[in-house]
Amino acid sequence: MTTILTPLAGVARPRLSRAQIAQLLEEARARTLQLIATVSEADLRAQHDPLMGPILWDLGHIGHFEELWLDRNLDGKVEFVEMPGMYNPFEYPRRVRGELPLPTLAATLESMAAIRERSLERLEHVDLDSGDPLLEDGYVYQMVLQHEYQHNETMLQTLQLKTGTPYSPGTRRELSSVPSPNVDRPRMVRIEVSGATLGTNDRRRAYDNERPKHSADMAPYWIDRTPVTNAEYLEFMRDGGYTRLGLWSDAGRQWLADSKATAPKYWWQADGKWLRRSMDRVAPPEPFAPVIHVCYHEAEAFARWTGKRLPTEAEWEIAASWNPVQGEALEFPWGSREPTVSDANVDQLGFDVARVDSYENNVSPLGCSGMIGDVWEWTSTDFTGYPGFVAFPYPEYSELFFGTEYKVLRGGSWATRPGAIRNTFRNWDYPIRRQIFSGFRCARND
Ligand SMILES: [Fe+2]
Repeated sequence: MTTILTPLAGVARPRLSRAQIAQLLEEARARTLQLIATVSEADLRAQHDPLMGPILWDLGHIGHFEELWLDRNLDGKVEFVEMPGMYNPFEYPRRVRGELPLPTLAATLESMAAIRERSLERLEHVDLDSGDPLLEDGYVYQMVLQHEYQHNETMLQTLQLKTGTPYSPGTRRELSSVPSPNVDRPRMVRIEVSGATLGTNDRRRAYDNERPKHSADMAPYWIDRTPVTNAEYLEFMRDGGYTRLGLWSDAGRQWLADSKATAPKYWWQADGKWLRRSMDRVAPPEPFAPVIHVCYHEAEAFARWTGKRLPTEAEWEIAASWNPVQGEALEFPWGSREPTVSDANVDQLGFDVARVDSYENNVSPLGCSGMIGDVWEWTSTDFTGYPGFVAFPYPEYSELFFGTEYKVLRGGSWATRPGAIRNTFRNWDYPIRRQIFSGFRCARND
């Protein structure tokens, strides 16, 4: 078996065999199907909200994306725009997908299975050492896997948004939860580093927007040790956070006026008490769990209320990855081991956030907790390419979105599959979005 050195932590990692790739593809598909096992065909076909297309579309799109890259691509270079019309996300934005003549569930699953059969057959014979960077070390397979993982999270956003009876998962894993989080620990961590690096040169799995690895010149700063909790956020609400317009930016005030929001999404008041819903469970917000389903503007207003600010993306990544003793960036806060559900609240089946500090492995060398899992964390940074960025393998994944419209989010959520998150992973969205599984932590200057 070929062994390559990752440029990350100098850890030798065996290259995935064809059998392992096939197994991962099957595992990803099993999860996709598991998530929808309890959902009716009518609900899979429905456009539950303008923000999210029907899940039936996601299913067909997952299949056709796979066909494009693991089948047609092996016959010659493909362009992303070659994806068949109905499932092309750029031709049909989410809000109109409910009007598409989507095939039945049975027909969709049949076509997904047929595509899968072809990709597995081609995997048997493909030359992974041809020198094609798309095939090298199985990159294209990792890309297709991550695509399915990422669509699983999108599907969960839709299931949380769904109208009618709330989504009831078939299988649920009870979350590990510390009995009483250590509230005596300091709220913030001071970070002063030199020679730290951001991004990665990994070409086996990382997306183009995570490359290249580059140095970060950082002034010393403070960053919250854990994400902001429901208890802290409730204090902000009780202190008039949503009506004190001085705490909000111009864009934030506009969003407040448009949305008329007075609390995070999926919160409401009953008999003077706040309740929140995660899928089919309704309960008062757990004081020690991270606040979730807040937009960038809410995060920014909260930070201003505490006299802090949101971290930059670079500050976030260094807090998660930098190991000052070894002088190197780690792929995960705990090192190079792939995340498991014992390390962090990831992989979906808990269907909610857990109390902060519930995962003792999920602490970075610089002392930040919960950087991976639970909530995607808003940063103050616009989504752009790193110095030396090169689009690969198609500009529609990242480059098309570079600019000032989107803010970067980091760290993954409870709804993120472990294969689609690492310290260098960059997510992005509009500052007004909160159907995503988003929270935040704050920072301040030294
Ligand atoms: Fe997609």
